Amino acid sequence: MDAKERIWLGCTVNVSGMAEFYSRQILSTCVRAGNAKERIGQGVAQATQQFLSTNTKTNSIVRLMMLDVCALLKIAKPLIQAPMAGVQDYRLALAVAKAGGLGSIPCAMLSIEQIHAQVNAFKAQSDASYNLNFFCHTATQDAQQELIWREQLAPYFKEFEVGELKASAGRVPFNQEIFDALAPLNPPIFSFHFGLPSADLVAKIKALGAVIISSATSVAEGIWLEENGADIVIAQGVEAGGHRAMFLETDISRQQGTFTLLPQLVQALQVPIVAAGGIADKQAITAAVALGASAVQIGTSYLLCDEATTSALHREVLTSDQAATTCLTNVFSGRPARGIVNRAIRELGPISDKTPPFPTAATAITQLRQAAEQRGSSDFSPLWSGCNNSGCKAISATELTDELFTAFDI
Ligand SMILES: Cc1cc2nc3c(=O)[nH]c(=O)nc-3n(C[C@H](O)[C@H](O)[C@H](O)COP(=O)(O)O)c2cc1C
Repeated sequence: MDAKERIWLGCTVNVSGMAEFYSRQILSTCVRAGNAKERIGQGVAQATQQFLSTNTKTNSIVRLMMLDVCALLKIAKPLIQAPMAGVQDYRLALAVAKAGGLGSIPCAMLSIEQIHAQVNAFKAQSDASYNLNFFCHTATQDAQQELIWREQLAPYFKEFEVGELKASAGRVPFNQEIFDALAPLNPPIFSFHFGLPSADLVAKIKALGAVIISSATSVAEGIWLEENGADIVIAQGVEAGGHRAMFLETDISRQQGTFTLLPQLVQALQVPIVAAGGIADKQAITAAVALGASAVQIGTSYLLCDEATTSALHREVLTSDQAATTCLTNVFSGRPARGIVNRAIRELGPISDKTPPFPTAATAITQLRQAAEQRGSSDFSPLWSGCNNSGCKAISATELTDELFTAFDI
């Protein structure tokens, strides 16, 4: 088959071994195939036959979900570049979009004006689809806990000669004001971390015709997301870098790995499932597809890319032996997130009961981070990374996406 006419096979097989092709999937095939419809049809048959001959499992159903996702997101390759607040802007999204994947712009730490500027810069250079990512936490304050946390940090403030606390870049949850400001731009895709916005806002986003994506860290969260309007659910395994998307779950010891969570979500939900966490090469993509993923979302592997804004210190650690050890910690923001172990995690965490609620815990430690970074130290920096950073390469994100995507050559 021609590379442009590949069939994305995210399939399982039913009891009698007959492939089930749903009309919407055939429709997606036609949309993507254009006038090559007939050849694609042959490709589907060929790929299905190949799948059936290598899959002896009974009681499963063939699904060409990857086609669905590509049609839904208007992309050529079922690969989403994970939104990564703090280490990227529209340029990484643009580079991935150039290769046919879905580029994401993290908006959780941006003002409305900054989001507008990012979207306009992307649109000035590409007609491709793009994803705007927001957080949906409930912003809470706890003055008492703030004091406890500052006491905890006091010795470090002294060591790094940090004076008055200044406000740092906040993380504002998605809200009506943001929606109103963005609606005229007609963003094609919204993705959310920590659940979904209010039902009212979900309805308004859908009325725009936009696709809604959110991450689940358990089957219960996946079911909740589907019932509350997510069009696509990401199975975020515990291997993933950055913040855990947990919004119903509270116990990190119960968080599952990507390849156990993924097939359970595929079985429990009707919407397409995207695999995220620890996926760093084409073999892992193939494995995710075999377990029913309709697409993959990849973050950590893009951290060293030319178009990422990952700091020099973060890049240095990612290429050192230190990068081999990551853990879940709440000391940088108040919520569990995966990063490379450094002094802050070792001495204050990894999980501390003294942090104020997310995201206010970030304020005080950000001052320390800045002071330490000025001295050339990443001891107090959130060095977000997934367990598997073997896929990090200092190359263009377009090239990396092309490389990862050879997983789908059939
Ligand atoms: C540096 C970094 C920052 C992240 N920031 C965000 C974010 O702003 N929004 C979000 O939805 N997910 C964020 N994530 C999590 C990703 O969406 C995704 O779950 C994860 O990168 C997948 O696992 P991997 O890093 O092993 O590829 C971040 C991940 C990393 C590594």
